[in-house]
Amino acid sequence: MLGVCYYPEHWPESWWAEDAARMVRLGLRHVRIGEFAWSRIEPEPGVFNWSWLDRAIAVLGAAGLKIVICTPTATPPKWLIDRYPDILPVDPATGRVRGFGSRRHTDFSSPVWVAEAMRISAAVADRYGNNPHVAGWQTDNELCCHDTALSASPAALMGFRTWLAGQYPSIAALNSAWGNVFWSMEYRGFDEIELPFGAVTETSPAHRMAFRRYASDTVAAFHAAMVAIIRARSPGRFVTHNFIPMPETGVDNHALAAPLDFASYDNYPLGRADLALARTPAADFRPWMRTGHPDFQAILFDQTRGLTGRPFWVMEQQPGPVNWARHNPAPAPGMVRLWSWEAFAHGAAVVSFFRWRQAPFAQEQMHAGLLRPDSTEAEAWPEIARLAGELSALPLPEPGRAPAAIIIDIEAQYLSDIERQGRGYDYNAVVAQWYGALRGLGVDVDFVPPGTDLTGYGLVLAPALVMPDSAAVAALQEAKAIIVLGPRSGTKTHDVTLPEGLPPGPLRALLPIRVLAVETLRPDCPGGISLGDQDFESGRWRESLDPGEACVIATYEDGAPALVRHGRVHYLATLTDDGFLAPFFASLCSEVGITMTPVTGGLRLRRRGDLVFAINYGADAVLAPAPDGAVFVLGGRRIAGHDLAIWRNA
Ligand code: GAL
Repeated sequence: MLGVCYYPEHWPESWWAEDAARMVRLGLRHVRIGEFAWSRIEPEPGVFNWSWLDRAIAVLGAAGLKIVICTPTATPPKWLIDRYPDILPVDPATGRVRGFGSRRHTDFSSPVWVAEAMRISAAVADRYGNNPHVAGWQTDNELCCHDTALSASPAALMGFRTWLAGQYPSIAALNSAWGNVFWSMEYRGFDEIELPFGAVTETSPAHRMAFRRYASDTVAAFHAAMVAIIRARSPGRFVTHNFIPMPETGVDNHALAAPLDFASYDNYPLGRADLALARTPAADFRPWMRTGHPDFQAILFDQTRGLTGRPFWVMEQQPGPVNWARHNPAPAPGMVRLWSWEAFAHGAAVVSFFRWRQAPFAQEQMHAGLLRPDSTEAEAWPEIARLAGELSALPLPEPGRAPAAIIIDIEAQYLSDIERQGRGYDYNAVVAQWYGALRGLGVDVDFVPPGTDLTGYGLVLAPALVMPDSAAVAALQEAKAIIVLGPRSGTKTHDVTLPEGLPPGPLRALLPIRVLAVETLRPDCPGGISLGDQDFESGRWRESLDPGEACVIATYEDGAPALVRHGRVHYLATLTDDGFLAPFFASLCSEVGITMTPVTGGLRLRRRGDLVFAINYGADAVLAPAPDGAVFVLGGRRIAGHDLAIWRNA
């Protein structure tokens, strides 16, 4: 269940056999290779040098390792770029070409790039598709990483126009759908449409939404073509991709994942905490500086599992300081083991570490590996040895369905970027807050895209389901769950206009309300919301409602409705503080019989089959909230700081 990322091309061939033997002795079984090796595989156009890679695979395989081989399309070589400079992407913000010298210097809209990417993928798959040591494939590497989903290139412009012509029956239909009469933005033909960048002030939200969809479709088509090439040449092997989260890819990861066997995720808790908590006061940040925030890994594990609904892999796990955040601390002792266990708790099948040995050269020479550059064991080594022993003694059951689901909506993410309306509004932060509130109650969560069959869930939350189509509405109508729709649900049509009859548009089929107006307040000047006799904050987003026949559950400070309920469907018209969400969600969990085990501080819970995992991100020991008679299979009732316990309820 453990693996490592290895770069045979970075080390003398005489080291490979000993490296492989040490991997096996450490308890590693998988090794990922090849994602950046194009310049060594094809050093000259059309001239392939397979011999070194043949030997590397033979050596690793002979040691007993299963190989995950990659298509090397994240790093096309210099000769390819010199030959076809139009492959380079153009930065939408500055209009400048993003040049050679790092990675991901390619434009998904470039037909030449697509052809070259498929050519090299086919060559690697032809060579190794039936190799007995190859267990599976990773496509590319972190698609869209480094902000590469969007490009303002001539190829993107041509691609966008062609795509638009396929989306709208005529230019008149597009003009009407987008409302282009406003500011005389009407076009006479698809070939007049520009990219939505570089205008004097904001371009139409419909225009920007269309470009986001175009970019997402283009990346998904690129990926699907690559997967098809691999499948045709490598029967019986899995195909996966190491995703970065949707807020960072900026594309629909569910669409990218559709042709895969399972999804993988690259887990860098400390870099993520450093960037995401950059504005958090030091006193609040310090407890998580060397651990990462207790919810940040879990939310992305759950989202990655939700991409295919099957167990996922952590393809890259941080083993020590990284090099790319604003600050790069070392993990607290024990955290590499704990992060790995946490991934397994959330349904991981394999955790693979990045990377085997720290490289003494180039961009990531300050990034830790399992070995130091001198091949001595680095800090995480004993933790991984311990983890391997523990895993071999504890077979893990299949992860089951969680009692609660959160509907995650890529269009809400796009809309949050395109039309924020108030600086305090950030869709991904809303999702994280609602998720954190359920986790605080000790409730497990699945993430599902709109339109998923919701049978079996007791509670379904949609932090913002902004432009639900008929499938999304039907799934909610058919669900037996209690449903909570957050503010901005049903707020727009497909073309980013206000729906007929006012928001929540088609969701009025679920509850007969109207959103009359919206205001957003500075986060430090909030208004209030009262639930029963308790008062909480409301401000980053506030809608005023005509509640129709819905029942008013909570009110603003002036008594106007802020939360309403009709049957089993709620509409929360405002963003609130955590203090509001916890008792509100708790009352709903009680109503549908979802068991809660509230946790505080750094403690979090997650079930996998009949096992309960308690993960302690805190530095101090805590008591496991296990019932009397619980049978501990790892650790015990007292959980030390940065440690865990696993039990089976009697
Ligand atoms: C990942 C990437 C790896 C390596 C790593 C460093 O995002 O896939 O190639 O750069 O970050 O932490």
